[in-house]
Amino acid sequence: MKIVRILLILVVLPAFAQQGGMWIPSLLKGPNETEMKALGMKISADDIYSVNTSSLKDAVPHFDGGCTAEMISPKGLLLTNHHCGYDNIQSHSTVEHDYLTDGFWAYKMSEELPNKDLTVTFIIKIEDVTSKIFEGVNNLSTEVEKQKKIQLNIAAVGKSFPKEAWQEAMIRAFYDGNQYLLFVTETFKDVRLVGAPPSSIGKFGSDTDNWVWPRHTGDFSLFRIYADKNNRPADYSIDNVPYQPKHFFPISAKGIQENDFTMVMGYPGRTQEYLPSFAVEQIVNDLNPAKIEIRDAALKVQDGFMRKDNAIKIQYASKYAGVANYWKKWIGETKGLKKSNAVALKKEFEKKFQERIMKAGKQAEYGSVLADFEKNYTEIRPFAIAKDYFTEVVLRNSEILSFGYRLYQLEQVYNSRGEQAFTDRKNNLIAGFEGLYKDYSAQVDEKVFEQLIDLYTSKSPKQFLPESLNNVNASSLTTGIFGVSKLTNYDGLKNILSGDAKSVVEKLNQDPAYKLVKLIADSYQKNVAPKFDEINLKNIALQRTYMKGIMEFFPNDRIFPDANSTLRVTYGQVKGYKPSDAVVYEPVSYLDGVIEKYIPGDYEFDVPKKLIDLYNAKEYGKYADKNGKMPLAFIATNHTTGGNSGSPALDANGNLIGLNFDRVWEGTMSDIYYSPEICRNIMVDARYILFIIDKFAHANNLIEELTIVYPKSKKSK
Ligand code: ARG
Ligand code: ASP
Repeated sequence: MKIVRILLILVVLPAFAQQGGMWIPSLLKGPNETEMKALGMKISADDIYSVNTSSLKDAVPHFDGGCTAEMISPKGLLLTNHHCGYDNIQSHSTVEHDYLTDGFWAYKMSEELPNKDLTVTFIIKIEDVTSKIFEGVNNLSTEVEKQKKIQLNIAAVGKSFPKEAWQEAMIRAFYDGNQYLLFVTETFKDVRLVGAPPSSIGKFGSDTDNWVWPRHTGDFSLFRIYADKNNRPADYSIDNVPYQPKHFFPISAKGIQENDFTMVMGYPGRTQEYLPSFAVEQIVNDLNPAKIEIRDAALKVQDGFMRKDNAIKIQYASKYAGVANYWKKWIGETKGLKKSNAVALKKEFEKKFQERIMKAGKQAEYGSVLADFEKNYTEIRPFAIAKDYFTEVVLRNSEILSFGYRLYQLEQVYNSRGEQAFTDRKNNLIAGFEGLYKDYSAQVDEKVFEQLIDLYTSKSPKQFLPESLNNVNASSLTTGIFGVSKLTNYDGLKNILSGDAKSVVEKLNQDPAYKLVKLIADSYQKNVAPKFDEINLKNIALQRTYMKGIMEFFPNDRIFPDANSTLRVTYGQVKGYKPSDAVVYEPVSYLDGVIEKYIPGDYEFDVPKKLIDLYNAKEYGKYADKNGKMPLAFIATNHTTGGNSGSPALDANGNLIGLNFDRVWEGTMSDIYYSPEICRNIMVDARYILFIIDKFAHANNLIEELTIVYPKSKKSK
């Protein structure tokens, strides 16, 4: 037995030394399962994914399309991050009932709060449909035709695949379009808020600590899924009952140690691990710096207002967090890519790629891939920069411009599809805008606009800028727009949108904010988008060929498909790291760190008095570790990305030991280049979650629902 194990470890070590990867749960049998067992896993690939019996995957739904969550009770109780539930917690909050600040706990099911538009989606089964999707594709000559045929096949296969009436089928491309998998899913729509700690716990450290280790954030919230009487998805109804999942996770209070096996299941959104060096160079030198500068300006303005005005703080909290999150990530990513010499390493790999092609005599198929990439990325550069300016300024960070852009699309709907389509879209917009204006402050937006339009006109590629915006004075442009435009408030917007299509379009075209959006968007759609799309399409096709070549010529590398918001499994070990010369980080943080970071009254580092009292009294219940300390967070080598927030971190037996919520600063480049030395995911320790629910919130109703696995010594306490 021992010998077998040692042999296993020996066989696996070289691969393990590379680490990383987000694997497809239905395809773990083989090298992954072997490696996982060598790392200490006690369960099998079938326990993780099985179609016919319940398996771990049945407890891990996609939360709200962007995060992950997990079932932790037989009565539909769902655990995810505080930052994943944030929008919903915010939407129930007012200055009087401020659940963001004070937290929220339902002590009875009847107190749970329904959430409009919140959905939770489970995977029922996964099937490889690659050959069906490629039917009739390869004899077509152009990439455009091929893509069209693939889309037709996707629609047809999705439609005809056998499933129940309440289920859906979706098909996703893997390995840059070399493989297609079909997912049968079930989406629940009645999902209620059950519990959230105050932000001083759930968002402790806020943006200063975001993407940073050591970390002390209790980033969790609780929801409950409701189903109809047959345990099936249903719209919200008072008659719905708690959903009974096929599987839920027991929670381990046994604790973790360095080098323990861990695995994380969830829905990573997007990675680009196989980009050629030319693309990475562009991200590092051009695209990230431009986006960072724009967001930096917008954030500084918003932060100034939020610190002075509580109502604005609530209005902008969620938006600000979203913008700040990627702003900070891109800074870390750029640094990490530089420090790890990612471009040079990619170039080395490309040299090997080229050599192997030559050796195999496959020049005809692959010989020009890298040269074509180089040519395309050189050509696309100004268009890519212009696209990012447009996206960041118009679509994302200046609210009045983003509102204007929706209206611009409305006018296009009228022009292309007529009055009825226009009216439908218009009514949708009016409804949607109500929520947007609820969280809108023209005062804040005006200052943001002034900064961003200045950057746009002075720094985006000149050749695509509408002539009248050359050398424009940002400050007078701003006053001209905010003093006159009707888009600065909801009533003004409704006024513009009242009447038939013709009169609406006429009014729109007299509004100065709208006119500016139209000027910019017209020029973007004429001068940037077509050329960008044309080159980009070529790159997509090249990427598919490149990926195919990598799989063919590097069969022994750890090749996993880039993230695409589908369910994945990643695994590794609890491990500290060395962020920089002479510094070593330990893998576990404790409540002591909260007290060390405590700044009374600070908006990021204040601590609730009750938590300080519990700390002083060491009232940790059964959740303290064996030294009597309260563990808070830990890190491991699991390869995660955006979308993995809220993912369950599991031990060797498949019990819940933590809740994934972030990565470490030095390793945020893992979306493009994963380095096992410094890439770590960050998880809240399950014991801290239990402690907060139990000792801080006294939500015994919730504790009673859970299955908690205690270490032997604490069972009888
Ligand atoms: N960085 C984490 C993730 O990408 C957490 C973000 C939420 N927290 C925040 N302070 N914005 O989502
Ligand atoms: N915080 C991220 C999320 O929300 C996770 C990550 O990027 O590591 O999904």
